[in-house]
Amino acid sequence: MPARPLCHIDGLEEGSARGFALDRRGRDTMFLVKHEGSVYGWRNDCPHWPGSPMAWRRDGYLNRDASRIVCSGHGAEFEIRTGRCTLGPCLGSSLSPVELKIDAQGWILAALDVDTPVPPRD
Ligand code: FES
Repeated sequence: MPARPLCHIDGLEEGSARGFALDRRGRDTMFLVKHEGSVYGWRNDCPHWPGSPMAWRRDGYLNRDASRIVCSGHGAEFEIRTGRCTLGPCLGSSLSPVELKIDAQGWILAALDVDTPVPPRD
């Protein structure tokens, strides 16, 4: 699976998230979170309702204090490091990780099969 460049690590602020529409359909396929100096990649696909996008606004994947990923659908909260749901209707289930690499120049690359887009929400 080819690695796709997303952004430079210096372009992602600590405690922030950013979505990427890699399938070019206008909706985020995945998002990054920079948390405590590390970068995590997750599919934009809530395990409560598979196929449901999560952000409440552009890049709005985190709660107020940026300590958890939150789904705008029904308020599920997820650990940033593990993707495990710790609060809400999908308690115990997990987000789908996106494998990331950071190259020698600091570009974040994602290994993601974009031929499997996030299905549209009904
Ligand atoms: S769709 Fe995400 S919590 Fe229900």
